[in-house]
Amino acid sequence: MTLTIPAGMPQYEDVPRLDVAKVRADFPILDREVNGRRLVYLDSANTSQKPRQVLDALREHFERHNANVARAIHALGAEATEAYEEARTKVAAFINAPSRDEVVFTKNSTEAINLVAYAFSNASASGGDPRFQLGPGDEVVISEMEHHSNIVPWQLLCERTGATLRWFGITDQGRLDESNLDELVNERTKIVSYVHMSNALGTVNPTARITARAHEVGALVMLDCSQSVPHLPMDVQDLGVDFIAFTGHKMCGPTGIGVLWGRGELLAAMPPFLGGGEMIETVTMARTTFAAPPARFEAGTPPIAEAVGLGAAVDYLSAIGMPAIQWHEKELAAYALDALPTVPGLRIIGPQVPVGRGGTISFTLDGVHPHDVGQVLDAEGIAVRVGHHCARPVCDRFGVPATTRASFYLYTTTEEIDALVRGLERVRKVFG
Ligand code: ALA
Repeated sequence: MTLTIPAGMPQYEDVPRLDVAKVRADFPILDREVNGRRLVYLDSANTSQKPRQVLDALREHFERHNANVARAIHALGAEATEAYEEARTKVAAFINAPSRDEVVFTKNSTEAINLVAYAFSNASASGGDPRFQLGPGDEVVISEMEHHSNIVPWQLLCERTGATLRWFGITDQGRLDESNLDELVNERTKIVSYVHMSNALGTVNPTARITARAHEVGALVMLDCSQSVPHLPMDVQDLGVDFIAFTGHKMCGPTGIGVLWGRGELLAAMPPFLGGGEMIETVTMARTTFAAPPARFEAGTPPIAEAVGLGAAVDYLSAIGMPAIQWHEKELAAYALDALPTVPGLRIIGPQVPVGRGGTISFTLDGVHPHDVGQVLDAEGIAVRVGHHCARPVCDRFGVPATTRASFYLYTTTEEIDALVRGLERVRKVFG
């Protein structure tokens, strides 16, 4: 499949290219053998591999600077605090946040989404800012394309408050169905929370119309960017949404750290989610007043080394350049969308053209359960994810119990996609 770039956009020669061999040399795990074969890692949407630069930063932190942050006046405490806060500055620049104070470190995307959902119920219970007040008659809008982490927190919020949950559907092509936007997002809507890039379908959702409509009716907009921030240039000011959530371990960083970005004045108006140390202004036995964001939302000892590792990951990705990474994955997606359907009985679930999608491709093989596909591929050293990918409503929508999913990243090669195709041909031989 040839990729054509519309006139007026930077042309092919202008797109910075990525040196995959050089990139791969940064990832020690890619030299590994699995079941006697060179590892073919096609599960980066699940978690990415980590470059030496991130591993070195973690080791250096623990070997030289380990201490708690914002609580210790000794030298190590100051160094650890500086490193932690520097990571916040790096993350803010990476997503073009207007202020570093708009970056809240969480445990993962799931916690970031729960934080916002709890802001609604906590504000509703305590008579807080009207934008976060939710009750019977109010509506929360999500989509059928969501990961469970962007479904369950809103279901629970609706159960706590009596509000109603509604959702966008998915078209047969695996795109978000915006055809009923004006009816779905209406004066009763308080928040629209949906996924930027689907972990199950690879679809990259357009945001302008939905954001404009939500803001027109006074609703807030949250975008789950767990699968987009690692793969696309991200500019929250350009997006114009109110909150985004993403996670470190899918973008070459460690597990245990996620990010909530929110517009400053909204974070300032939000009640806390978790209570504890360092999120307070003063505490008496009778009552507590709270620190300004981001500290208000970072109760307890935060993921310090993990933040340092995420900062190193941001440095690493920035040095390569997100446009080059995005383009590399677009080429891989185009290559795979051509190659995979040569396997008899293979059905791609999701967009079949490399436009408005990323390098995550789900498929089924006629007559073979995805778990069997995954097992045969694993025996060949090929790692894919099989199952419902924590997005079960997507499988329901397409009438399949599960899919096999191959997901690419900056270190993926076309040779690995060839290996996947050979592996699937082997599956065909084994299962007929
Ligand atoms: N880890 C989840 C996935 O594989 C989100 O898509």
